[in-house]
Amino acid sequence: MKATIVGGGVIGVSWAGLMAAHGLDVVVSDPAPGIEDAVRAGLAELTPALRELGLPADGRVTFQADLAEAVADAGVVQENGPERLDLKHRIWTTIEENAPADALFLTSTSGIPATEIATALERPERLVVGHPFNPPHLIPLVEVVPGEKTSPEAVERAVEFYRGLGKKPIVLAKEVPGFVANRLQAAIFRECVHLVAEGVVTEQQLDEVVTSSLGQRWAVSGPFLSFHLGGGPGGLPHFLEHLGPGLRKRWGQLGTPDLDEETVRLLSEQAGDFGGNVAELAKARDTAQIALMKALGR
Ligand SMILES: NC(=O)c1ccc[n+]([C@@H]2O[C@H](COP(=O)([O-])OP(=O)(O)OC[C@H]3O[C@@H](n4cnc5c(N)ncnc54)[C@H](O)[C@@H]3O)[C@@H](O)[C@H]2O)c1
Repeated sequence: MKATIVGGGVIGVSWAGLMAAHGLDVVVSDPAPGIEDAVRAGLAELTPALRELGLPADGRVTFQADLAEAVADAGVVQENGPERLDLKHRIWTTIEENAPADALFLTSTSGIPATEIATALERPERLVVGHPFNPPHLIPLVEVVPGEKTSPEAVERAVEFYRGLGKKPIVLAKEVPGFVANRLQAAIFRECVHLVAEGVVTEQQLDEVVTSSLGQRWAVSGPFLSFHLGGGPGGLPHFLEHLGPGLRKRWGQLGTPDLDEETVRLLSEQAGDFGGNVAELAKARDTAQIALMKALGR
């Protein structure tokens, strides 16, 4: 099957590498000059991680800047263009006019509801959000979010498609801004910024607190199961009765920081203390991430 990757930036490259490694015939469509070199360089960087995951990293990726031609015989289209509604409308109008009538339509958008993007489509029932957690070639989650008019069939096909890529698709019952994973991330990051801005801990200490506690715990059991187990034999009902009042009190004590100039300067300065450049740190992160995924069998 042919998969058309629309937009060859951060997310497009990662999807392209993963889909090609799963044997799809991948074509990347992006009008940016020099995109082929940039995407090929990005794909080369993914190769070690894909190999570590046991996937062949010699899949076929071709390039077609003309979107109409790129989708002409697509079985699936995964759109990763800029996060702007006007551009997504333009892109999807062209895709719908030129793709086969049964091609699966997926958008990686991290925040624009499928309902809004699909207003540009004659058949809005075809479009579904397939929001990956960066980087899609590694992190299992894909949030599958139907719009008001998305058909159950499109949702089902999206789930099946992502499962075939070894992903963990989760279908949301409602469209909410930011979907689920990024809302959680925003909530936690707000408190992270508060604690660092208040000088309680440094960024490095805060990260250690997370990777030595919540990160490890949540890789195995999520927040609800963790508290269900934290309640002992009485489970979550006992936990909420016993520790719920303290938890509720703490909600009222959480910080509400701003990302003003001073805070951004402080956060940026401390980010220089992670002990390595971004490429080195990302490589070490990928190695550890893959080891964890293998250990957990995911
Ligand atoms: N970066 C993330 O962490 C992340 C995570 C999940 C989802 N997303 C979503 O994925 C999408 C892409 O994000 P990104 O971070 O890869 O952005 P990016 O800026 O890295 O890439 C966007 C690409 O789209 C290309 N483009 C511009 N106009 C185009 C057109 N008309 N047709 C085809 N391509 C076009 C650009 O040249 C660029 O290469 C966004 O909708 C974003 O919300 C991003």
